[in-house]
Amino acid sequence: MKTKEITQPMGDVGATVDHPKPHVTAKDYAEMYAASVRDPNTFWAEQGKRLDWIKPFSKVKNTSFEPGNIDIRWFEDGTLNVSANCIDRHLAKRGDQTAIIWEPDDSRTEKAQHITYRQLHNSVCKMANVLRSLGVDKGDRVVIYLPMIPEAAFAMLACTRIGAIHSIVFAGFSPDALGARINGCDAKVVITADFAPRGGRETPLKSNADTALLHCKEHVKCLVVKRTGGQTTWTNRDHDCNAMMDEASAECAPVEMAAEDPLFILYTSGSTGQPKGVVHTTGGYLLYAAMTHQIVFDYHDGDIFWCTADVGWVTGHSYIVYGPLANGATTVMFEGVPTYPDAGRFWEVCAEHKVNQFYTAPTAIRALMGAGNDWVEKHDLSSLRVLGSVGEPINPEAWNWYNDVVGKGNCPIVDTFWQTETGGHMLTPLPGATTLKPGAAQQPFFGVQPVVLEPTSGDVVEGNGVEGVLCIKDSWPGQMRTVWGDHERFEKTYFGDYKGYYFSGDGCRRDEDGDYWITGRVDDVINVSGHRMGTAEVESALVAHAKVAESAVVGYPHDVKGQGIYAYVTLMNGQEPSDELRKELEVWVRTEIGPIAKPDLIQWAPGLPKTRSGKIMRRILRKIAEDDYDSLGDTSTLADPLVVDDLIANRMNRR
Ligand code: WT7
Repeated sequence: MKTKEITQPMGDVGATVDHPKPHVTAKDYAEMYAASVRDPNTFWAEQGKRLDWIKPFSKVKNTSFEPGNIDIRWFEDGTLNVSANCIDRHLAKRGDQTAIIWEPDDSRTEKAQHITYRQLHNSVCKMANVLRSLGVDKGDRVVIYLPMIPEAAFAMLACTRIGAIHSIVFAGFSPDALGARINGCDAKVVITADFAPRGGRETPLKSNADTALLHCKEHVKCLVVKRTGGQTTWTNRDHDCNAMMDEASAECAPVEMAAEDPLFILYTSGSTGQPKGVVHTTGGYLLYAAMTHQIVFDYHDGDIFWCTADVGWVTGHSYIVYGPLANGATTVMFEGVPTYPDAGRFWEVCAEHKVNQFYTAPTAIRALMGAGNDWVEKHDLSSLRVLGSVGEPINPEAWNWYNDVVGKGNCPIVDTFWQTETGGHMLTPLPGATTLKPGAAQQPFFGVQPVVLEPTSGDVVEGNGVEGVLCIKDSWPGQMRTVWGDHERFEKTYFGDYKGYYFSGDGCRRDEDGDYWITGRVDDVINVSGHRMGTAEVESALVAHAKVAESAVVGYPHDVKGQGIYAYVTLMNGQEPSDELRKELEVWVRTEIGPIAKPDLIQWAPGLPKTRSGKIMRRILRKIAEDDYDSLGDTSTLADPLVVDDLIANRMNRR
């Protein structure tokens, strides 16, 4: 495929900004990358200096991808505290600098807040003392179920201050999903808010938490932040966060943590029904988040950085909170959505706060592109220097619009490929160092060794102009360490199929120049608006409904979401398909998992295409959902080929 290549000279980007020299040039990249894989111990020992250690490490890398012995440790004899690295060490130089700019859902009724590093220190210490007073200790788990408000960052950092492990549950998840995650890590405390305003609507978080807690141990406490002041019911496990913080001491010494102590758990979907608790640890994760934040976005002191993600996803962990704050940055935290009150909101915020680096998802870019250029053009975006994309491959139309209309051709676009499991960026262009190709994630970050494997044999595919599954040959500091409570599952999921390699779950192409292009998931995971959804998870929600006998869920191309959720549903004997039942199932999945899992299309399937051994042939279902049924391939092994004819005749996605 021939693509337009664009070199972004960094010297003259940003019309009104005195642009600093990029951290890494093309020549630096080549040299540093070679050094990082030739001698990882020396390379990462040097990078380890980015953090303040209480006790310096003497060992750097101690990792094994050997079958039966997956063991990943970085800087294992060093000790440190994450909140001290993100706050205390900046106080002398930047106590009065803004750490967090908080932008509310509705800018017409509320004002942005600027929180300095000193104020952040104060609030985090107070919240840490509140958590302690609720009995939270080093190693205990705290679930955070909050809107995008400063308290979410305070809560994360307060946990790290006292060595508690946080597990954030996205505020869009249902009570059921929240309850499963509270129980999954046996949390002592759940931190929530009365309501979560988003896009002009309010999610009743506290009442969701109450519902979730009905299915949790009695001793789990609920710490409630006041966001809107709306009416909520109060039970005797509830504690008033605002009142307690008012009373709490603003002094709280950071606890000394080992580099390999768990920092957080974050649940993510896989190809089985149960989400996995991805575990990240203290030293390696923080170092990797900080380093990638600085280099990939070419962040310089004084810059204003905005990642539009939610802290409920890993992107928010690494690039709203931990990476930027470890670097002493000013980070924007946005409560709202791209299109509220209107489709100019992102650009209004960029202009208002003079954002220098802007990081968002292709789905948002496509939605805003559809709203027209006027929304962009009426705002002064001259402060922008680097644009980022994450979550799914970015299609060239969206890339070009982002580049031309938002970046005015002056801002390199970093298309960052990574995962919840990887902690930080894995493949990405670097501003000032990489000749950009729209739609490609291009080059490995330092220390990352991508390999392309032949999917069935697992043989390494050498050379350029090749395709296969994307694996990583050796460990990097930001790598997840285990699945919470289930190391065997960790090993099986990521190291089971291709021995000796970390398997990403993605397919990729390495082009003639050696640049990487992600081609999408090769497992039963789909990517809906940049969010990962296990099809098995949606299927188990559907079959939990009394009228559903069987279901198969696949992805199909969706103009804005990237992929939409297409569900084939077989009803119980005696049940009649109807539009009401379709609505009922949509609502059902929303309440079982959350709004992001709601099927876009439901097709009534009298039967599903199965092999004689009873295995559903998903390949066929995907083709029909894509409206591409002419090329179904070999259907001779089907138990009942007629099933397919019915599915084609009644397909829902007709172009
Ligand atoms: C999956 C990980 C960590 C970022 C947010 C999503 C897809 C992510 C890209 C990209 C192509 C991408 C992959 C990956 N993905 N970024 N730049 N280009 N695909 O994190 O929920 O853990 O999902 O998102 O399929 O495996 P996640």
